[in-house]
Amino acid sequence: MTLSTASIHALPHAESAAVEVRGISKNYKEVEALRSIDLDFPRGKLTTLLGPSGCGKTTLLKIIAGLIEPTSGEVRVNGKTVTGPGPERAFVFQDFALMPWATVMRNVAFGLELKGMGKAERQSIARHYIAEVGLTGFEDKYPHELSGGMRQRVGLARAFAVNAEVLLLDEPFSAVDEQNRRKFQEDLLRLVEKERKTFIFVTHSIEEAVYVSDRIVLLSRRPSRVSQIIEPKVDRTASPDAIRRDQGYLDTVEEIWQGLKHYVD
Ligand SMILES: Nc1ncnc2c1ncn2[C@@H]1O[C@H](COP(=O)(O)OP(=O)(O)OP(=O)(O)O)[C@@H](O)[C@H]1O
Ligand SMILES: [Mg+2]
Repeated sequence: MTLSTASIHALPHAESAAVEVRGISKNYKEVEALRSIDLDFPRGKLTTLLGPSGCGKTTLLKIIAGLIEPTSGEVRVNGKTVTGPGPERAFVFQDFALMPWATVMRNVAFGLELKGMGKAERQSIARHYIAEVGLTGFEDKYPHELSGGMRQRVGLARAFAVNAEVLLLDEPFSAVDEQNRRKFQEDLLRLVEKERKTFIFVTHSIEEAVYVSDRIVLLSRRPSRVSQIIEPKVDRTASPDAIRRDQGYLDTVEEIWQGLKHYVD
């Protein structure tokens, strides 16, 4: 496949990457999920994993998070081999993982509470990120009082509050209607710009991937391998509506679809 509007780049030099994935394979008994994945995730950029359902995107995020062990290979974060979860990595789960008995405020501030930070300080930090994700006014609500999309945003605010350097976002907007989804995508872009963290994002939406990503990693069907890395050429200074009508944006969406569609049965 040739890409006229998007360019394919060699992996960046290892030193520039916050997260390095080296030769990662993962088998679940007889299921071979990932086969020899090599990827670099640069700091300050949002990299999206895009691929068919069941190809192993969540598995790869969990390996980077240190929640499951790979069958072979290793992950390094800032040059250090991952052996388990760590405070510099935060996972926003595909299914919600909020504490149902705690308010939005407590959920967002919980990581800071664990670190022993005083109440006033942690609440002030939590309040800031609750505002960043557009949930001001909901601080005292419980998860069951929120919509699915709002719960996802609480998860996002919690990840920011602990100041994790690497944010692992597994379909954070999947439970959200189209209108809100667009708003969150814009919020996410703003956060990427502002926070300069390493974002590793999973979505099923090609449009969403092209809209928010600095880099898109296309994964093949299981056993999953990296089939292509694309850097969308999108002018992020344009207005959201202008970006979505931009020919470069539309062409990149179409070309990724052409690359992925043979994986769809
Ligand atoms: N704990 C597990 N035990 C056994 N098999 C598993 C386990 N977790 C995942 N798998 C299998 O590994 C493969 C990859 O799963 P994974 O959840 O990583 O895919 P995914 O790309 O995130 O899919 P989706 O897009 O549907 O979320 C699937 O075939 C799945 O059935
Ligand atoms: Mg998944």
